[in-house]
Order: sequence, then structure tokens, then C-alpha cells
Amino acid sequence: MQEASHQLRCVGCSAVILPDAVEKDFRCVDCGELLEVEYPSWSAAGALTPALATGPRRTPNPGALRWLWQERLQSRLPIDQSGVWRFRELLPILLYPEKAVTLREGNTPLYRLLQCADELGLEQLYAKHQGMNPTGSFKDTGMTAALSQARERGFQWVACASTGNTSAAMAAYASRARMNSLVLLPEGKISWSKLSQALDYGAVTCQLNTDFDGCVRVLAEVVRRAPVYLLNSVNPYRLEGQKTPALEIAEEFDWQIPDHVIVPGGNLGNSSALGKGFLEMMHLGLSTKVPKISVVQAEGANPLYMSLLHHDGQEIEPVQANTRATAIRIGNPASWRKAARVIQQTGGYCEQVSEAEIALAKAEIGQEGIGCEPASAVTLAGLKKLVRDGRIHRAESVVLLLTGHTLKDSEFTIDFHRGTLLRGEETAGLEREISEKRRATLSLEASSDAVLRVLEAAIQA
Ligand code: F0G
Repeated sequence: MQEASHQLRCVGCSAVILPDAVEKDFRCVDCGELLEVEYPSWSAAGALTPALATGPRRTPNPGALRWLWQERLQSRLPIDQSGVWRFRELLPILLYPEKAVTLREGNTPLYRLLQCADELGLEQLYAKHQGMNPTGSFKDTGMTAALSQARERGFQWVACASTGNTSAAMAAYASRARMNSLVLLPEGKISWSKLSQALDYGAVTCQLNTDFDGCVRVLAEVVRRAPVYLLNSVNPYRLEGQKTPALEIAEEFDWQIPDHVIVPGGNLGNSSALGKGFLEMMHLGLSTKVPKISVVQAEGANPLYMSLLHHDGQEIEPVQANTRATAIRIGNPASWRKAARVIQQTGGYCEQVSEAEIALAKAEIGQEGIGCEPASAVTLAGLKKLVRDGRIHRAESVVLLLTGHTLKDSEFTIDFHRGTLLRGEETAGLEREISEKRRATLSLEASSDAVLRVLEAAIQA
């Protein structure tokens, strides 16, 4: 299982190519669609390329895998301590996995959300906190995979267009690997914390006078014209790393898969990756079902929602994206076809939520002592709608994928508590809930009397 025994399949026309034949933009030469990693020795998909079809089919033994993955939790080897490479049998993309570039990503906590569950009348509500990764977002799990692949292929430079988190992750992993990184960011439209990470980790950081979708277009040309390796989520190796939280969730549920997993949707790589992970697990006999995977978008950046509503997920119309959840401010998502397929295959849903609903949900997750960045909070906001509409039932188990750490966007949080985040008309219908969640910082004279007066008032309240 350790050799890089994989091939790439087009999600549009199903053409199969060997890894060495891949284009720099990771798109199919025939139809321009995205590619997906496939393992001929055990993947579900049919036709194999002649070069790989000659080998025997070796379906891994589920019991042995579960045991091995648990054993590795005791190991001191860096790749065993990684929550991505601990599962390396299911992502044999490297010739030398022991040389993977790792910051010990993954192995993130699964928290019970008791207060939110009570509010919604749900019996089992959990948050899988991918913001607890080394650079504070889920991007690390994909970056360790794709950047290790870039290094194995001899690249010196890697590049991405980003709403912030991908750039932070890429810059960190590139520096660990002594590689160089180039970051393209939409000027003024990402949080300072994420920008500061890219600088600190040593990336060449360019802010472009455009949005994320414009940065993607520019980067496509740069990649064509310079020897840089593309690390946006069109890179199918990213998604191989990003499928491992599905394995962690399964492990944490003792291989009894939860009923629902809810994910924020931006460029739509993550929902695609998790779907792939859960579907592969079932195919291999590691689990007996897949969860319904639902994707939640911001109302101002909702192209997948609109696509499923109006075109059954068969085509997509890009939108001019606008949301304060800047991580998902994306109007032309690359992986929309993969994500639509995952929602349809698993029986999940796609929802959209307003700016006020996002802000309120973020404050509610904060009150659980967990916190997350705004883009992650769309999951709870979307869950509320799904429960209200009867699409998720009281007795069903639900996992929210929290994709980023609360410290990723403290400007948003401070603006919320100051009352400067939302315009009056945006909060319509939620004024009471929002004002109950807002906290003021108090400026007091430096005396215990002053502090005790405040404490007393708080105790009485
Ligand atoms: N949540 C956070 C915190 C993100 O940073 C992103 C994407 C998403 C959700 C959406 O995930 O794109 O896989 O659907 N951020 C990218 C970036 C685009 O550049 O950091 P997706």
C-alpha cells in the first residue's frame, strides 16, 4: 500500500491519466474539468489505465487498518503523529511518505455542543474543530498532502490564490520544507490575522486589486508562465489530505457514522474531500453508511445554493460574492461539480444564511467556550434552518465542521460586540437574540470597589 499507486480521473468526462501526465492547472485536457485521485488497487471507480491495471487488487483489511491507525497514536514518528499521515494507507500519493512535510496536523478535537443542542432540541450535536490545526484552519490537512507531493516532484516554488487560510497554511508548510511560496490575496478583503501569518511564515505576499475569483484568474496565468506548483484546491492532492477528518470522525464515533455532517461552502473543495473520505470508507467496509453531507453558504456568496435550486446542480452561474465571512467570499467555486455530486450522493442539503444569522451563530459557538471564525459559523446557522424545516430530526446525530479558529478574524468579533458589524436592517427579526449575545468591555477606575460593583451587578443580572 505504500507506493504511490494512484491515478487521476476527470470528474467531467471520466478520462484517466497517470500522475506524471497532469497539467499544471490540474484540469482535464479533454474537457477542462477537475481531476480526482483514484487508487486502482482498491478505489470503487471502474476502468483502470493499462499501466496500473496490471497490478493485483489489494483491498485493505478494515479491522487491521483500524488497529494500525490506533496504534500509531502511541508512536513518536512525525508521520504517525500527523492526523493525516496516520491514515496513509488511504492516501498513498507519495513515494516516500516518511518524508512528508508535517506540522502534526489533524487529530483535532470533537466537542459536544450542549447549549446549542438544547436550544435546537437535538440529542447529539458535535463540533469537529478543524481550527485547532497548526495554522488555525482545516487547510493544513490538505497542505501537508499537496505540498509533500510538490516537494517529491522537485518544485522549488508553490503558489495559491486565497481568502487567507490557504495562504497561511501554504506559507507555513513551504517554509518547513525550505521551499518558496507565492500568495495572491484580494486586497482589503481578508483578515489581518491571516495576512500576518503569510508574512510571518515567509511567503511572497501580493495583494491584488480584485476579489478572490480575480486572484484565481491571475494565478492561472502565472502558473502557466512560471515553474510554480499550484496549491489551490483544484489540486486533487489537497483533497486527499482534507478527507482525513472524515476518518477521524468515524473513529471518534467508533465507526458508527453520524447521521449528518454540515460544512461551510466556499470554493467547495472541503465538502468534496469529506464526501470522498466517507464514500471511500464505506466502499472499503470500514463503515456501513455515509452521513448526509450538507453545505452551507453565505447568502451573498451562494452560487452552489442557486445551482442546486435552479439547475439541479448541473450548471453554475458565478455570482459577485459579498459577505463579511471573508473566508467564503467566493463567487465562482472551482469544485462545485464535485460538491454537488457529494450532496446528491449522500442525500444532504444546501442552505444559505444571512449575515446576521452568521454573526449570531458565531456568538453562540463562542458561548460554548469553543469559538470559530465567521465562515465556520454558517454551519450552525444552516443547521437551525434544517431543523426548523424538519430536514434534520431530534434523534439524529449531527457534526458541524468548524473550519477556522476564532482568532483568525478578531476584527469581526470585536465589531460584533461593539455593535458596528451589522446594519440595522440586516438584523431584522434577530435584534433580541443578537443583543443578548453582545458583551461590552468596561473601562473602570483601578479600584476594587469599582470592580466589585460590576461583579455585583453581573451576579444580580
Ligand atoms: N471555512 C474557512 C475558514 C475557509 O478558509 C474556507 C476556504 C472555507 C470554509 C471554505 O472551504 O473553499 O473548501 O469550500 N478558504 C479558502 C482560502 C478559499 O483561500 O483560505 P472550501
